[in-house]
Amino acid sequence: MEINTLENDTGKVVRVLLVDDEESYRNAIARRLERRNMVVSQAPDGTSCLEYLSGNETDVVVLDMKMPGMSGMETFKTINKYYPGLKVIFLTGNAAVAEGVEGIKTGAFDYLSKPVEIDHLAGKIRQAWELKRLEAARERDKIFRRRLEKRMIHTQRLASLGTMSTGIAHEINNPLAIIKESAGFMRMVIEDSGQIPEKEMLFKGLEKIEKSVDRARRITHQLLGYVRKHGHEMTPVDIRQLTEDTVVLIKQKTQAKKVSVQWDTESEHQMLMHTDPFQVRQVLINLLENAVDAVDTNGQIRLALYRKDQSVCLEVRDNGSGITPENMKQIFDPFFTTKPNVAENESGTGLGLFVVHKIITGLSGSIHVESEPGQGTTFKICLPEWQSD
Ligand SMILES: Nc1ncnc2c1ncn2[C@@H]1O[C@H](COP(=O)(O)OP(=O)(O)OP(=O)(O)O)[C@@H](O)[C@H]1O
Ligand SMILES: [Mg+2]
Repeated sequence: MEINTLENDTGKVVRVLLVDDEESYRNAIARRLERRNMVVSQAPDGTSCLEYLSGNETDVVVLDMKMPGMSGMETFKTINKYYPGLKVIFLTGNAAVAEGVEGIKTGAFDYLSKPVEIDHLAGKIRQAWELKRLEAARERDKIFRRRLEKRMIHTQRLASLGTMSTGIAHEINNPLAIIKESAGFMRMVIEDSGQIPEKEMLFKGLEKIEKSVDRARRITHQLLGYVRKHGHEMTPVDIRQLTEDTVVLIKQKTQAKKVSVQWDTESEHQMLMHTDPFQVRQVLINLLENAVDAVDTNGQIRLALYRKDQSVCLEVRDNGSGITPENMKQIFDPFFTTKPNVAENESGTGLGLFVVHKIITGLSGSIHVESEPGQGTTFKICLPEWQSD
């Protein structure tokens, strides 16, 4: 007896579903295909064929065109719609060539006229199966490539953004220093000179120059803060102390608005972690400044510090304006800001949270925001307690 084995390299065999309303015919064909090492299941009509396919992995369907109830063609159309990778071979009545051709036109793999020669059928099934595997491999390859391309574009973008930001930030910082210095010098000269026409106008102009320089500096500092990652060392940091030092750094801003900053009583009092204090401080400055910007005069900022699993979590909670769901989608985008002209020339850069996000993910941490418009906002950052260099 000839054994026509259709085992593939992984040892699997082709799974065939034989759909025909004539039970004896079906049994005979199935037995003979099984002898050729195929796994054959049977269905007496279109409905049970579809039922079977919904729960069983199948490679090739051998489908009788002429069946009571749902016709072969109708069954095929449904298969084609829901299982596009599945291969279908039609069995047509003798003299029903036109039907078979129609089947191929609508996407069937092939058709055979009854009575079929069993080796011919087995050969067709094998070809159909091979095509199915080839298409599946191609599809996998396509998905893999697409994923790879996406990842590469992302990496390239990040790399070029990093390199570009460092370059630009350094290049801009030097002329900024010169402009600021010169403006300061001109101010001094004008102040010391006696009678100068339009003295006040000159001071106003200088002030604009100085404010613009400060704004440009904020942008370059933000960008440098996160791209300079490798220049910093991981050290043991008392995160509570670092937060308190940062609160002192922005004291001018909090005092101007009479904003109170307080720890939740159950917060940890001291908590050592191994991380980059410069980057974490930049995160804290941004979160605290945003909170101060969001609250009204006499607003409140609450801080919470606690351990969770292997992480240290810090929450900055304010009772300010909150963030609308619409804005929430964009707050981490670079240059997204809702702070146009907080004061003349002092609109937000929209880089704060972008940098915060970059830093936190760079330090293998996570960031979450919860906000209720009109009620307030909570930013929660969690960082691994121990982060190696
Ligand atoms: N605590 C907060 N409450 C309400 N809105 C916030 C809060 N934090 C951030 N936002 C919103 O997210 C936007 C983006 O914040 P981000 O820190 O990136 O930039 P910015 O604060 O506008 O500018 P900059 O940081 O340069 O001052 C803000 O303009 C604001 O709309
Ligand atoms: Mg900000």
